[in-house]
Amino acid sequence: MKLIVTGAGGMLGQDVVTVATSVGHEVTALSHDDLDVTDPAAVERAVTRQRPGAVINCAAYTDVDGAEANESTASQVNAEGAGFVADAAHQVDAKVVYVSTDYVFDGSKREPYLETDETEPLQVYGRTKLAGERATSLANGRSFIIRSSWLFGPGGGNFVETMLRLGGEGKPVMVVHDQVGCPTYTGHLGAALVRLVDSAAYGIHHMAGSGSCSWYEFALEIFRRSELDANVLSSTTEMLGRPAERPANSALVSGREIPIKLPGWERGLSDYLERRALLQKTEAG
Ligand SMILES: NC(=O)c1ccc[n+]([C@@H]2O[C@H](COP(=O)([O-])OP(=O)(O)OC[C@H]3O[C@@H](n4cnc5c(N)ncnc54)[C@H](OP(=O)(O)O)[C@@H]3O)[C@@H](O)[C@H]2O)c1
Repeated sequence: MKLIVTGAGGMLGQDVVTVATSVGHEVTALSHDDLDVTDPAAVERAVTRQRPGAVINCAAYTDVDGAEANESTASQVNAEGAGFVADAAHQVDAKVVYVSTDYVFDGSKREPYLETDETEPLQVYGRTKLAGERATSLANGRSFIIRSSWLFGPGGGNFVETMLRLGGEGKPVMVVHDQVGCPTYTGHLGAALVRLVDSAAYGIHHMAGSGSCSWYEFALEIFRRSELDANVLSSTTEMLGRPAERPANSALVSGREIPIKLPGWERGLSDYLERRALLQKTEAG
């Protein structure tokens, strides 16, 4: 199939491009520099030129704290931009994939969230992503809305890399224990998205690494597997005082009859660390 990937320079975008290309799709990878999804005319031109079978929209404003002070930018990318992409795809009869977030939930549920659970975002980022879900499904009847969580993948700016850097500096690392979610490796999510796009299972899908843990437990596992003897201190969300409120529980599970299940988050972590080690070996010559 002919595919367009927007936001192709991001963590997930890079892995979607890699997987889709490896299984034989004809992929046009558009980074932010190649295509700004907030420019409707440019989006329409890019999609009309290629006439793809599907557009996988990985472009997003993902700075959760930054969105509190930059609501209009976050909304332009995550909500309006999503609508432009979905509409342009609709005009050439293409499917569209919109990647959304666990932060559409308020975190008050004790069990993992299902696709059918009520949404109630606590912060600007979640509200703009929820608006993006709605804009996408309104503009295109053949849309897949994928809610995922706690992504880590190529490019450097993820929690695993932050932990390894801080741990490597030998200083104590403070990590919250009162937020639970599903760490998700973009290599696994990318493969699932590429499988899904071949189907007609439109609508909302929860897709995240199987199982769940707190950020604190995730950090301990990162250090254990990397054999780094770091001093990890458990803290509360309140102690960190971040600008954006976060859900206490944002674990996701699918209630679909035939879900596409991702491997467990621990497996995601080991696959990521293995890939990272390989890359470092190659770079070292
Ligand atoms: N990261 C997470 O933990 C997480 C969790 C749940 C869901 N998600 C969702 O998963 C998707 C992928 O996230 P990610 O972690 O791969 O994020 P990412 O690494 O920040 O990638 C997002 C990409 O979108 C690009 N972008 C920003 N504004 C754009 C615009 N106006 N037009 C075109 N491209 C633009 C960014 O480019 P620049 O950097 O050059 O601006 C970046 O390359 C997003 O929809 C996100 O909301 C992420």
